[in-house]
Amino acid sequence: MAQKIVAGNWKMNLNLNDAKALVQNVNQQNKREDVTVMMFPPALFVADVAAESNGIKVGTQNFYFEEKGAFTGEVAIDQIRSVGGEIALIGHSERRSIFGESDALLKQKVDAAVSAGFDFIFCCGEPLEIREAGTQEEYVKAQLEAALFHLPKEAVQDVVIAYEPVWAIGTGKTATSDQAEEMHAAIRSWIVDSYDQDTAEKVSILYGGSCNENNAKELFSCPNVDGGLIGGASLKADAFCAIIDSF
Ligand code: PGA
Repeated sequence: MAQKIVAGNWKMNLNLNDAKALVQNVNQQNKREDVTVMMFPPALFVADVAAESNGIKVGTQNFYFEEKGAFTGEVAIDQIRSVGGEIALIGHSERRSIFGESDALLKQKVDAAVSAGFDFIFCCGEPLEIREAGTQEEYVKAQLEAALFHLPKEAVQDVVIAYEPVWAIGTGKTATSDQAEEMHAAIRSWIVDSYDQDTAEKVSILYGGSCNENNAKELFSCPNVDGGLIGGASLKADAFCAIIDSF
């Protein structure tokens, strides 16, 4: 069975004091042991947030695929691990669109994470014009085929996928639960086609894009939605804990 996951992507928000207060508040309020909670603070704060994590899985929003060297401004998996980080996002739409990360680069990051035995959430999702053209399934399938589905079955079963329609991220415009379920069911069926049913059932598929304490319950009740990757609403402990409690 896929794990239930609620993950907070803090993006480039909060300072160190806010970051520590947020993880402490979430720890005080959250009583759910059946939901895996994850936090993705700015890389600079991973050590401090991990020190307070108390069971929350902490990681980075990005990393570079090389082990070390002359890559100014980047962080390596071993460095993240050395400060208590256990997981990273790969291919968030903001990395793809603002920082120009290509499918080829994302594939190198996926391979680096797998060979280091480091967990990751692979993000995918279509922009508005693709949704309007009705070709979102071909688009998302191509993203997965380009950077994820080359992995062997043993590696894929540990992967978490986040479906985040770009038109819903930070816009207050959520996908309807029908739209989310349709894409999540399609993603799971492609895993069955590329691997098998057993593998597909182990992969958690999260929804992201203006998910909040008001709509999480309906989204999480969809059979193929195993949780959420939360941006804006992960920055307030009350809202984030209410989302965790939506299961
Ligand atoms: P949002 O961001 O919840 O603020 O829309 C989600 C994300 O980008 O992961």
